[in-house]
Amino acid sequence: MEVQQVLHMNGGAGETSYANNSTLQEIVIFKVKTIVERSITDLYCTTFPKSLCIVDMGCSSGPNTLLAISNIMEAVDQIRRHLGRSSPEFRVFLNDLPGNDFNNIFKSLAGFYEKLKQNNGPDFGPCFIAGVPGSFYSRLFQTKSLDFVHSSYSLHWCSQVPPALENGLNKGNIYIANDSPPAVIKAYWEQYESDFSLFLKLRSEEVRSGGRMVLTIIGRKSPDPSKGECCHLWKLLAQALMSMVSQGIIKEAQVDSFNLPLYTPCIQELMTVIESEGSFHLDGHEVTEINWDPNDNDNNEGFVFDKFTSGRNAAKIIRAVAESMLANHFGEAIIEDLFKKYEENVAEHLAKEKTKYVNVTVSMTKK
Ligand SMILES: C[S@@+](CC[C@H](N)C(=O)[O-])C[C@H]1O[C@@H](n2cnc3c(N)ncnc32)[C@H](O)[C@@H]1O
Repeated sequence: MEVQQVLHMNGGAGETSYANNSTLQEIVIFKVKTIVERSITDLYCTTFPKSLCIVDMGCSSGPNTLLAISNIMEAVDQIRRHLGRSSPEFRVFLNDLPGNDFNNIFKSLAGFYEKLKQNNGPDFGPCFIAGVPGSFYSRLFQTKSLDFVHSSYSLHWCSQVPPALENGLNKGNIYIANDSPPAVIKAYWEQYESDFSLFLKLRSEEVRSGGRMVLTIIGRKSPDPSKGECCHLWKLLAQALMSMVSQGIIKEAQVDSFNLPLYTPCIQELMTVIESEGSFHLDGHEVTEINWDPNDNDNNEGFVFDKFTSGRNAAKIIRAVAESMLANHFGEAIIEDLFKKYEENVAEHLAKEKTKYVNVTVSMTKK
């Protein structure tokens, strides 16, 4: 599977689109807002730039695409007003893979510029936004041209499925599971370590000295990769696929040859790579959590747990994210039934155990 060609979130604005199923990622952007604001405010106050170049990597297409960017610009606008300075010019780049629904973003830009003016007054900016299609595992920007790099819920995606998994090593699974052989865990970690290190090296060429980077990555709490919260999530999807094998709808070999190109690191793993790559200083980190069903806010304010509703909510998020890869490998025809079965599996799991996504945020300065 060529990840760059196949991976994209469900486009458009329909029922199964990413745009309609990204509340979870939106809540995550709010949860880490303070660490992002601290970093951009620090950057502004140390350099007072006349022009700021900001990038969002893995921006996708939907309500969140411009949310992270507007939070960043508004934080700058607040501090510069407080200090009685004139607004810097904002150059904003939105990056994602070429299959991303960039057209949808471009269509929303006129309204976004209008809203920026209404919210922040006529002395804000100006702000110039452009789309940059391409993999963040390649050079995308001019040398030392970036001031601030942001990325949320994107850097768990690897550049490829670990090559060692191509021979059916991860039998009956599609990601690291509690019954995956140690060689599978090793292959996934080696892929991630090499990808994340490459990402840092590439960005270190593009970010100017003193520039900042804040990355929020789906991760895990346990140092043991087979005990990651996301392992259950994908195991339940593998089980849905295996039940289609027993019904003769798909072949077992098809499941054995499908593995997800992702890895959910723990904070220690990220810190090890940041330190050994050496281009960035780690300013801070934070671990936050969110329920698989983002409507379950743990406060029980107006929320009544129903396993089927929560199962459906959690499954819809995964469908919007993983459908392109599953359809490419198993064919479009199975998708509807697969996610019906998956929904049931997630419902049964949540009835036994409330499970959360773990979000790992790292804030860095380019040395
Ligand atoms: C779950 S979405 C997150 C989108 C958005 N940041 C948010 O918080 O809602 C992950 C995005 O990362 C993008 N992505 C994955 N691998 C990438 C790569 N190598 N280069 C650029 N974008 C990538 C995907 O295409 C997808 O749009």
